[in-house]
Amino acid sequence: MIATKTRELIKSNLVLPTLPRSALRIRDRCLDPGSDATELADAIALDPSIAARMLKNANSACFGQYAKISSIHQAVVLLGHSAIYNLVLQVELFSEFTNRAGGWIELEKVWRHSILTAQICREIALGYTPASTTEHVAPDDAYACGLLHDLGKIVLFAKYRDVYAELLMQCGRSENVCNEAERRMFGFTHSEVGAMIAHDWGFPDDLAFAIEAHHAPRVSMRDRPAVIIVSLADEVSLMTEAGSRFDATTFRVTPAFGYLHLSHSTVEQLFQKAAVFMRDVG
Ligand SMILES: [Fe+2]
Ligand SMILES: [Fe+2]
Repeated sequence: MIATKTRELIKSNLVLPTLPRSALRIRDRCLDPGSDATELADAIALDPSIAARMLKNANSACFGQYAKISSIHQAVVLLGHSAIYNLVLQVELFSEFTNRAGGWIELEKVWRHSILTAQICREIALGYTPASTTEHVAPDDAYACGLLHDLGKIVLFAKYRDVYAELLMQCGRSENVCNEAERRMFGFTHSEVGAMIAHDWGFPDDLAFAIEAHHAPRVSMRDRPAVIIVSLADEVSLMTEAGSRFDATTFRVTPAFGYLHLSHSTVEQLFQKAAVFMRDVG
């Protein structure tokens, strides 16, 4: 639970930091008259901060569309190149020259982890057979959920910069250790602060719940396969980053595999693909 005063402090003047190279790639595509919506969406798909700002604007009241916008491509088509160019001007370029105290390295890790988790989410959505049509998750929507699942970490970077970079450095790859350290230091976790922003920014329910519950999908979330997919992808991503291989024990101890009715061999293939994605993400 985040105290009201802290909520207001976090929400006021919130400028998400981004890595200059991905922001500049997006800016260049916005300015390139030959770049179409797919090319621009592909660039934004590698930048969780700009993707988040874009989904906020696409779901804002002024567009008044009936259904919520949940994919990056849909948002690009709705907003157009020049509106996205203006968004790029509103993020903070997190330079390695002005943020030397470890912050740069830690933010880059969040970036790589977010992109890897997004790619794994899309892979799961492509291969998963829902029990009913209401449980279908569009691969592009799953990608956006994966890309933004750790939005709270970027928000904490925006507000607590060096202190948060230090916390992440000390926690290493363990998300459990990280969650406990966040609760001790701030009184809330990155999942909670991410969910607060997701609701405030009018994100679709699946996306907001995926941000909120990616570390602890509840049984009640079984009717929200997008949340389960993100939780599973996050785990596969963390294990792949840590160099762990898939084995039968992993399969048994991770309930999300069972919720999605994924077979042993499907999960094994997922780990193989995740290793390839990680090499590509760099
Ligand atoms: Fe997380
Ligand atoms: Fe994560």
